Amino acid sequence: MVKETTHQATSTMKNHLTFYVNGKEIIERHVEPEWTLLWYLRNKLKLTGSKLGCGEGGCGACTVVISRFIDRHSGEIEHRTVNGCLAPLCSVDGCHVITVEGLGSVNKSNLHPIQTRLAELFGSQCGFCTPGIVMSLYGTVTSTTNSLPTMQDIEESFDGNLCRCTGYRPILDAAKSFASDTNKLPHKESSPSISTTFDKCMLFVKQNSIPDQIEFPQKLKHYIPQSIHIKGSLIEWYRPVSLNELLHLRHTYPGDASKLVFGNTRVQIQRKFKQLQCSCLIAITHIEELQQLKRTTDSLYLGAGITFTCLKSKLSEWYNEKINDGGICQALLDQLQRFASTQIRNVASLGGNIISASPISDINPVLQAAGAVLELHRADSSAVRQISLCEFFLGQGRVSMIDNEVLVAIRIPLPNPSSKSFLRSYKQSRRRDDSKGIVSAGFQVELQQSNSIDNQWNIISVCFSFGGMASRTIMTKNTQQELVGLSWTKTTMNKACELILKEMPLDEMSPGGQPEYRRTLVQSFLFKFYAYVCLELRQSTDDSIHLSIAYPYHRPISHGQQTIPERPQSQKVVGSSLSHRSAYLHTTGEAIYGDDMPSLVNTLHAALVLSTQPNARIKHIDIGVASQVPGFVSFISHTDVPGSNKSATPIEDEEVFASSIAHCIGAIIGVVVCESEESAYIASNLVKIEYELLTPTIFTIEDAIIHESYFGNEISLQQGDIDKGFADAEHTLEATVWIGGQEHFYMETQCCMVIPSNDDQEVTLYLATQSPATAQQMVALALGRHVSRITCHVKRIGGAFGGKATRSIPPCIAIAVAAVKVGRPVRLHLERHIDMSITGHRHPFKITYKVGFTDEGRFSTLDIQMWSNAGCSLDLSESIMEVAMLKIDNCYQFHNIRIRGRVCKTHLPSNTAFRGYGGLQATLACETIVEHVATYLKRDPFTIRRLNLLKEGDITHYGQKLEQWHVPRILDELSQSSDFIQRKLSVDEFNRTNKYRKRGITMMPAKYGIGFLAQFYNQAGALVHIYKDGSVVVTHGGVEFGQGLHTKMISIAAEVLGCDVDRIRISETATDKVPNASSTGASVSSDLNGMAVRHACEQIRERLNRFLVDKNNAHISWEDLINQAYHARIDLCARGFYATPDMFDADFSQNRATVNYFTQGAAVTEVELDALTGDWHLLRVDILMDVGTSLNPQIDIGQIEGAFMQGVGLFTMEELIWGDNKRHRWIKPGELFSRGPDTYKIPSFSDIPLDLRVSLLSDSKNPRAVYSSKGIGEPPILLSASAFFALKQACIAYREQQGFSDYFTLHSPATVERLRMACADEFTHRVCLDEYLTFQPRGSY
Ligand SMILES: Cc1cc2nc3c(=O)[nH]c(=O)nc-3n(C[C@H](O)[C@H](O)[C@H](O)COP(=O)(O)OP(=O)(O)OC[C@H]3O[C@@H](n4cnc5c(N)ncnc54)[C@H](O)[C@@H]3O)c2cc1C
Ligand code: FES
Ligand code: FES
Repeated sequence: MVKETTHQATSTMKNHLTFYVNGKEIIERHVEPEWTLLWYLRNKLKLTGSKLGCGEGGCGACTVVISRFIDRHSGEIEHRTVNGCLAPLCSVDGCHVITVEGLGSVNKSNLHPIQTRLAELFGSQCGFCTPGIVMSLYGTVTSTTNSLPTMQDIEESFDGNLCRCTGYRPILDAAKSFASDTNKLPHKESSPSISTTFDKCMLFVKQNSIPDQIEFPQKLKHYIPQSIHIKGSLIEWYRPVSLNELLHLRHTYPGDASKLVFGNTRVQIQRKFKQLQCSCLIAITHIEELQQLKRTTDSLYLGAGITFTCLKSKLSEWYNEKINDGGICQALLDQLQRFASTQIRNVASLGGNIISASPISDINPVLQAAGAVLELHRADSSAVRQISLCEFFLGQGRVSMIDNEVLVAIRIPLPNPSSKSFLRSYKQSRRRDDSKGIVSAGFQVELQQSNSIDNQWNIISVCFSFGGMASRTIMTKNTQQELVGLSWTKTTMNKACELILKEMPLDEMSPGGQPEYRRTLVQSFLFKFYAYVCLELRQSTDDSIHLSIAYPYHRPISHGQQTIPERPQSQKVVGSSLSHRSAYLHTTGEAIYGDDMPSLVNTLHAALVLSTQPNARIKHIDIGVASQVPGFVSFISHTDVPGSNKSATPIEDEEVFASSIAHCIGAIIGVVVCESEESAYIASNLVKIEYELLTPTIFTIEDAIIHESYFGNEISLQQGDIDKGFADAEHTLEATVWIGGQEHFYMETQCCMVIPSNDDQEVTLYLATQSPATAQQMVALALGRHVSRITCHVKRIGGAFGGKATRSIPPCIAIAVAAVKVGRPVRLHLERHIDMSITGHRHPFKITYKVGFTDEGRFSTLDIQMWSNAGCSLDLSESIMEVAMLKIDNCYQFHNIRIRGRVCKTHLPSNTAFRGYGGLQATLACETIVEHVATYLKRDPFTIRRLNLLKEGDITHYGQKLEQWHVPRILDELSQSSDFIQRKLSVDEFNRTNKYRKRGITMMPAKYGIGFLAQFYNQAGALVHIYKDGSVVVTHGGVEFGQGLHTKMISIAAEVLGCDVDRIRISETATDKVPNASSTGASVSSDLNGMAVRHACEQIRERLNRFLVDKNNAHISWEDLINQAYHARIDLCARGFYATPDMFDADFSQNRATVNYFTQGAAVTEVELDALTGDWHLLRVDILMDVGTSLNPQIDIGQIEGAFMQGVGLFTMEELIWGDNKRHRWIKPGELFSRGPDTYKIPSFSDIPLDLRVSLLSDSKNPRAVYSSKGIGEPPILLSASAFFALKQACIAYREQQGFSDYFTLHSPATVERLRMACADEFTHRVCLDEYLTFQPRGSY
């Protein structure tokens, strides 16, 4: 029976929203319930500071703070950081929304201290992540009422923010300056050349009161929540305020007729990615009964509508009261420590997590193990249905719930205080911060001591519950039964492992893959649990028990140190650490990126129509249904291309629109243009394409080798006599190493706006590309127009890393064709998952080697064969292979060398340039060879490195003489400053005394040749204008994407012109100002553009010099100088040009190539590995880098740290996984599985080194670049391989302890899976049997 209801008639409900944004009241009467807060801020309020980086809660670029009044009596206001991309606009009724614009503005000169410090301490590079970071910090600082947060609070609060540029250290330095306990940071005597985290915090110590908070609107203090009903065009939104009202609504709209929403973190993802259609949303955020948190003598009562943040805070309170709860509070707290992100925990509910029934929920295993019972209510029954969580899950996303039921609470029984009951939770994920568990577990056991002589503890009951091991949270019921009555010993644990493995079989088709690793983790967790219980019982075990495995690792606070040599006295500006010229615009959100630009009247929105099949003939395209979508304007395909449909660089082997064959999933077949972005997405998904699948379809390097599917011929490079070299060698070794690809994960995805004009056939493009001139040329080709009619503008881009060199261009050409066809401006913004799926990655490589060497370990001969997976078009793959071949020697001498390379053609999106450009793959191979030889000879790898080091004057295998060769000196200095020898001994000692945690330390050099291999690219132009008031505009051919290029150019101009830096600005890069510019990349842009800017400024300066002193011999001001020059009719504009001298085209047939010079460096990296799980931490990293005489030391250090962390990502956690018919059969062939922050993990805040020391080499001159500097964008990324080899050293230590001292191959990335499986032991043996010493997890190559 339906109860008597208090459900209000919809007519009496509030039908609009009332809220504040940055102190301004908004009453919104025209709301669509599907609007997210972010969409509303950006599109309706034009507050574009908050960015759209992913749209799935995984990057934090959209972070805003939401404040609301929660306690009328105490006046308490709650401040929460939330992801604007997930929060429904409707959820902010009664709230104060604070965005980055609300904190402060450059234009209003009212910067908030968070914005100032982040800018001044180099916490932003491209600036795209910065508004989100500012807001996260603001949230942390404001939510710790009346006090400053601790450093721990600050480090943890960034778990929902990603930054791809900085490497995080400078952000944390700035953030820690707000902490209450900075005195705990290590500090030494201050020195002008050294700056530590402590020093930076001290800069602000006098200002350290609680920073200003945006005032909470008075009116909202009187806000009384009332029922809301919003009727949108497609969806209705209800917000009931009582349980009765909610139950009645659910009864009215049962099952699929409505969707309950709390945090919307699941529902939004389903709507976006799983096409969840729902016409009625019922918000359950204001129901008192769902928000209860109580502890009685026998249970914990948790309302289903509590957020994880509230839950965490209550659990901590209960935990601190130290009442015997059998471990439940601790177990849940441990899990919450690594659960989602702060932003997600602030809004997501316990009930939402349970009802989502995700097989990889981290909470449900703990609740199951604790015997939780759910309380379900419904309107047509007064009885509350109780169901044990153990019976609730039926399958993925399926639960035992009646259509009109609502989950109200979760009751967790507390154990009898006299019983010996233990509960623990475990989780291992791809990354620590904001990463769902690969496997998570909740274990509970109740024990009783036997009366026998040995006083054994016997099992009374046990519960093992797992996430990530089946299609739902699963308990091992059979195992549990079998264990009852047995004693708590290692033998029982071994039996438990065997039973569990039998009960939870996983095979290669299991979604998520990694079956062997997951089965190993299960045992590792069990062993940790066993160790924990033994320790708590004070019972010894067969194994020496270590606290380190029984209790979770506590990560200390990180800190850094930078050492900068003195700048030359002769320079006033160049060489100073001028802050990034856009830093304040970044921190205030006032920096404009492509998608922030306002639309012109009449602008249309585009969405790409992409192939859903690889290697398929397009048989038919049907736009019938798509064209019915309201707002549909046109569909554009190859038949609409007015010029050439052939495209791409360096050879035209692609099509603008696939005309008959789609080579890969993600090939552009067409474009849909509509009046709105949403219509365009909807319509693009409704275009129906019929395909005929072709064969053979090739995805991997192995496939390509079998089918001989290559681009061009084999490329080779050879020096000396290989055959004789091997014949004479005292030893030879051979092996193969694989390295996976890498996604650029620039924070700003690809976007563009194209404005066609009938006036002289002009087309204007606003792009996010590193190569505006190439885009200009290719658009002209497709449109059949002269290049002069196309103008490309790039103001700034939110990260690039090579990913926007060529692959940003194909979508822009397609949009240009569309804009010209419809005769209206058209814009495109790629969603993150599409961007990742279609724009290519770093190339995976297979590298086989044979090395000959002496007894001592001196290399004589090297034979290398490399294959790269280029995808379906050539793009830059050939030159990337060539660079890999040039860099294969790293810093070592191989007298006889042969390198052969093949570029494999596969049915994947075309792979492309990425910071390091072939160098990383080569470094991995070269250093693997070093380690292989060292293991074979039982010598330390560093001895082999030193022994084979190149010397000044040596000639490389491509004929380049080494000059200004500093690597030997760098190694000496670094060895000393890092205390390498002593620390190596300490690592050995640690490994002797720790069985399951191992450390590794590696010292490794690198050199990086600077300069384009093709001579013609090594040129640049600049244009300098000085206006009558003395202000200066510099334009050059380079693009600013965070690397500080514009800042360096401004300091060069200021140095030469002799004016203040604030007089100079760079507005944008544009093809109508500086023509024919080379792509910004190859670490050479400061060299080339710097010389061109200098050249232009020198010409003007020379003209100005005659006015330098006035008649009275007094120096005149810059303004007067310019004024006089103007009135004397002096040209205040100049064009500069530079072409690097003495460079020639690489000619591999002659074994010749040239680089301008080498940037050099070395790193010492020390790591600690949990051998049972594969989890690791970078304990300390020391880097010494030769950047010549730095143009800007802090910017260069930013490049070093950012590159290092990006490389750490490549070599450890960033794993591209695609379906390939063989290794990952659970994924559709050719489809990229890891295409968003949820599945693809770049390093986050808690992955950085605990102690990071970066130094710039002193007394280094470089006559071959501007102001004696060196290019720095890419070189330091090579040093990140030291992290890979340090981790390998840790695995070696574990294997040796297990009795396995033979060499083993570790492929890259060294994911937690690979590291764990390399740590061969009894657990891996159980799952891999005979193979366990050589087992290699599946990869995508
Ligand atoms: C970036 C990100 C990271 C994440 N990381 C993790 C992680 O590390 N570990 C993990 O386990 N999970 C993780 N999650 C999943 C997350 O925990 C869940 O999305 C969240 O708990 C759902 O809560 P919600 O309030 O947002 O639910 P909603 O999205 O509002 O609702 C989810 C579902 O539950 C239903 N529902 C909600 N409440 C009730 C109720 N009281 N009665 C009946 N039905 C109800 C809704 O109708 C809907 O079907 C992550 C999610 C995101 C987006
Ligand atoms: S855009 Fe919201 S988290 Fe990425
Ligand atoms: S500065 Fe953080 S992503 Fe670029």
